[in-house]
Amino acid sequence: MHAKKTRSHFSLHKNMNQHLLDPTDLSVSETDAILGLAMQMINREFDPSRLRQGTKLATLFYEPSTRTRLSFTAAIIELGGHALGFSEAGSSSVSKGETVADTVRVVSKFADIIAIRHPQEGAPMVAALHASVPVINAGDGGHSHPTQTLTDLLTIKREKGRLDNLTVGLCGDLKYGRTVHSLLKALSRYKNNRFVLIAPDELRLPDYIIHAVNDHPSLSFSEQSSLEAAIPDLDVLYMTRIQKERFDDEAQYIRLKDSFILDAAKLANAPKQMIIMHPLPRVNEIAPEVDADPRAAYFRQVENGKYVRMALIHTLLKHNADYRLPEMPPATWQTGNLCKNPRCISAVEPVIPYNHPAEHNTRRCVYCDAEIL
Ligand code: NCD
Repeated sequence: MHAKKTRSHFSLHKNMNQHLLDPTDLSVSETDAILGLAMQMINREFDPSRLRQGTKLATLFYEPSTRTRLSFTAAIIELGGHALGFSEAGSSSVSKGETVADTVRVVSKFADIIAIRHPQEGAPMVAALHASVPVINAGDGGHSHPTQTLTDLLTIKREKGRLDNLTVGLCGDLKYGRTVHSLLKALSRYKNNRFVLIAPDELRLPDYIIHAVNDHPSLSFSEQSSLEAAIPDLDVLYMTRIQKERFDDEAQYIRLKDSFILDAAKLANAPKQMIIMHPLPRVNEIAPEVDADPRAAYFRQVENGKYVRMALIHTLLKHNADYRLPEMPPATWQTGNLCKNPRCISAVEPVIPYNHPAEHNTRRCVYCDAEIL
């Protein structure tokens, strides 16, 4: 992987870009190459067992997951390897107080590659700083979810035949929905895409995402408070669940949970060629009656997830075949008070206090992208 604009300043570790922490860790051409390899695997033009037999993937899941963990597991098995790991923090040494940093140092001795999901934002970056094998972010809090983005890009490419010149409606929890954040970052690098943001006021897209994607000249985006009004113009409708587990105030969740529900009546005004996507799990934001509509692509989307993860694992390990990344040199660690975000990994375990260079008069935490105190 080559250094990218968004992360090139982050040279804490010279091999940082052997990891996938954010969708922009991959350039557009690297992203396209992974999607191309996934397509070759789907079309059986590429023998996936070319990976060294017995390769081990560790899935460290500190947060619930069905699709993501199982698709990583299915992917490594199809590649001729094995999966090990845990699916809840309670069954690992985390329950004894072990840090992500220590867990990952230990797991690096057993596995060739790590996929980590964690409720604290930036935890995969801490993992990458301590691992001697490549680390894949399988979702960190409300921050980022780059492998879901690869899944989404492959789905759009297969269903619509292109990743540019699209009008994409993003509907639901745009504040905490990490899949939306990552998809916007990735899709905004393709030309002439228009985004229609459909969210309650309280769950609008965070400013830092708007700043990150606004730098791309051919991008346009608008806000719409009504799904009915937005739907006739869309090529892709990306529905999301209201992220209950990220709310501090349950009353607010209850008030917002039924904000947008896609049903057959609303779909009647949608273009014939529009596709409906959802990272799943769904709660009630898509009525079951929609499932039978050929435009409903969300279960096809799930299958694409396995193939992109196969392609990603293959790509990261190909560049890293018999090579172990050096472990981090000793550095100055700091706990707490790094940024304003209580969900940042820096709030709960020591990190190296680095931040992004100031942009738009704001300094941001390199781990979670929140404003620095
Ligand atoms: C998403 C996630 O975990 O962010 N699920 C997934 O990985 N497919 C979406 C969600 O939980 O709402």
